[in-house]
Amino acid sequence: MHVQYGGVFPAVAKREHAKAIIPLLETVLQEANMLTRTSTPHTIPESISTLLLREEEMLHDIQSNVSMWERPPIDMIAVTSGPGLAPALWVGVNCAKALSMLWDIPVYPINHMEGHIYASVLEKKEDVFVVPTLSLPALALLISGGHTEIIHIEKFGTYRKLGQTRDDAAGEAFDKVARMLGLAYPGGPKISKLAAIARSANLVNDRIPALPRPMIHSQDFDFSFSGIKTATLYLTQTLGTLTEDDKAAIAREFENAVTEVLVYKCKKALEETHAQTLIIGGGVSANTYIREHITELCTKLDVVCFIPDHALSTDNALMIAITAMLKHNTGVRSTPLDLIVADGSLSLESLQ
Ligand code: KG4
Ligand code: ZN
Repeated sequence: MHVQYGGVFPAVAKREHAKAIIPLLETVLQEANMLTRTSTPHTIPESISTLLLREEEMLHDIQSNVSMWERPPIDMIAVTSGPGLAPALWVGVNCAKALSMLWDIPVYPINHMEGHIYASVLEKKEDVFVVPTLSLPALALLISGGHTEIIHIEKFGTYRKLGQTRDDAAGEAFDKVARMLGLAYPGGPKISKLAAIARSANLVNDRIPALPRPMIHSQDFDFSFSGIKTATLYLTQTLGTLTEDDKAAIAREFENAVTEVLVYKCKKALEETHAQTLIIGGGVSANTYIREHITELCTKLDVVCFIPDHALSTDNALMIAITAMLKHNTGVRSTPLDLIVADGSLSLESLQ
C-alpha cells in the first residue's frame, strides 16, 4: 500500500490500522485458541462509544463482532504508545482502552524502542522465547526507519541516550538511496541484497567513488546520514543512466559507509562506558553486513552481543508484549486508562 508513496503515508497508515485492528485481533485470538463466541451479544458500554467517537469503524467492529466474543483469558494488554506516527498510534491506544473497558483487563503502554531492545535479547528455545539475564550496564544501538541512537541501559527501565542522529535515521537513508536506485519501499533489504551481489562478485567499478562517513570522528555519539544520502544523489545525477553494475557498486559503498560509522561509534561507546553487553535492534539490524560487523566488533572487545532473530528485527507485536511482561514481573503497575496517551515523540529517557 505504501510502495506508491515511497514510504509510509500517514493518512493511509491510520486508515488501514483502523480497518485491520479488530479483524487482526480476531485472527490471532482464533489462532491462539482463545476465541469463544457467544449466542447473546454482550452490551457495549456507553463509555466505549464515547471513547471511540472518532473511530467509527473500530466502534462498529466492536459492536457487531467483539460483542459476540466471550472475555478471552488474557491477563494484560500491551500497547505501543510511541514513538511513531501519532494517528496510527492512537488507533492502537484507543483499541487497547476499549478492550480494557470491555473485559476489565489492565493496560501497559509500551515504548516502541524499548520493545526493540527486548526483542533483540530473546532466545528461542524450541517453540518458546525466553528472556536471558543481561549483564548490566549494557549499550543498545537502535537503528530503524525513524531512529538511530545509542542507549545506555543502567538497569531495566532506566535509559540514557548517549547519542542519536542529527538528521535522517539509518533506515530512512537506506530507503531514500534505494529509491534513487529505482528500488521499491522498503529499500533496506533490497540495497543489502544488491550490495551482497557486488561483494561476492568482487565487482570493480571505477565510476563509483567513496562516499563520505559523516561525523565518524566527531567527539560524541551522534550520527548524520543525510550527507551520505545527498552524496549518493549527486553521484546518481552525475552518472545519468545507471547500469546494474553501477547500482550494485553504489549499494555496496553505501552499506560500507553506514556500517563503518555505526561500528566505529559503538566501539567508542563500549570503550568509554566499559559496558560488557551490546544489543542491536530495530529494522536495520536485519542487515546481514551490519550484523556481521557488529558481531566481529564484540568478539574483538570481548563484549556479549545480542542480535535479534531475523523475524524480530523489524516491527512486531511480540516485542511489545514481552516488554510489558518484563515490566509486570519487575513490579511495574499498569497505567490508569485516562493517563494513557499516544505520543509520537516519546523518548526512552522519560521511562521509569
Ligand atoms: O523497526 P522498523 O521495522 O520500523 C521502524 O520502527 O521504523 O524499521 C524499518 C526500517 C526500514 O527503513 C527498512 O528499510 C529497514 O528497517 N530495514 C533494513 C533491512 N530490513 C529492514 N535496512 C537495511 N537492511 C535490511 N536488511
Ligand atoms: Zn521499529
